[in-house]
Amino acid sequence: MRLTTLAATPQSKTKGNVLTNALEALEGQDWLDGPAAAVRKAVRALPLGRARDALHGVWLGHPLHPVLVQLPMGAWTCAGILDLIPGQGRPARLLVSVGLASAVPAAVAGWVDWSEQRPRQARVGLIHAAANITAVTAYAGSLAARFRGRPVLGRALGFGGMTVATVGGLLGGHLAYRQGAGVNHAEAVPVLVEPGWHRIGIPQDFPVGEPVRRMADEVAVVVIHDDDGRLYALADRCSHMDGPLHEGKVLEGCIECPWHGSQFRISDGENVTGPAIAPQPRFDCRISPEGHVEVRIARA
Ligand code: FES
Repeated sequence: MRLTTLAATPQSKTKGNVLTNALEALEGQDWLDGPAAAVRKAVRALPLGRARDALHGVWLGHPLHPVLVQLPMGAWTCAGILDLIPGQGRPARLLVSVGLASAVPAAVAGWVDWSEQRPRQARVGLIHAAANITAVTAYAGSLAARFRGRPVLGRALGFGGMTVATVGGLLGGHLAYRQGAGVNHAEAVPVLVEPGWHRIGIPQDFPVGEPVRRMADEVAVVVIHDDDGRLYALADRCSHMDGPLHEGKVLEGCIECPWHGSQFRISDGENVTGPAIAPQPRFDCRISPEGHVEVRIARA
């Protein structure tokens, strides 16, 4: 199954408030797909090498973008408070500068994450980025005005930037908490599988080197039979965005997700390359005394 086949699947219409209805309407703006495709191509072409995984937050086990965002938002918020206090022009100017400098790595990490998102997420992400670029532009103008001795204009642009950045933050929250961008999609697996062994076939069902999908309770499992005759099993739906691992390739002790190329070690589910920031839940495998292949969720 290709990711693109899921691209335009609309979410069920829910009764929401004005804000959530507006955000869902934004998700449906398919005219954004053209610009998004062009930007995605450019971001994916950046020669980032291993830094790409670092920017996703693979080393952290958590997306890096929301961590980095704290610095510009914190600096700008403090600048806004100082702008309300007479005689605090210099420290406010310093904080506006700190916010601008720290917005750059936050934006780069955000773009790298965004480049792997589904179309409905990418539409919201594009407007999220546009809001943040507008905020950065306003703060750059604010800084320039402060240096030119026009503090009233500097403060006005700063408050304008903060307002737009808040809208950008709202859109980022919708992306993460409503649309599930950046979350671990395999987190629920251990609670969805009943404890104990689940029969999933006989050894002949699992050709060497060929990932095979089976169900254990409610959960799809990918089983890999390695060259040494050992059987391994991981949750089949990728922790990044639910990609079907059984359609991926087995490469040097890992299975590669067919959607965005995350690689998980088959022996323990560790995410050795991103964009997945969480490991894949692992199952113990055994051949029962009756000759059946059985799996059970491995203890953490
Ligand atoms: S779904 Fe994105 S790497 Fe698997």
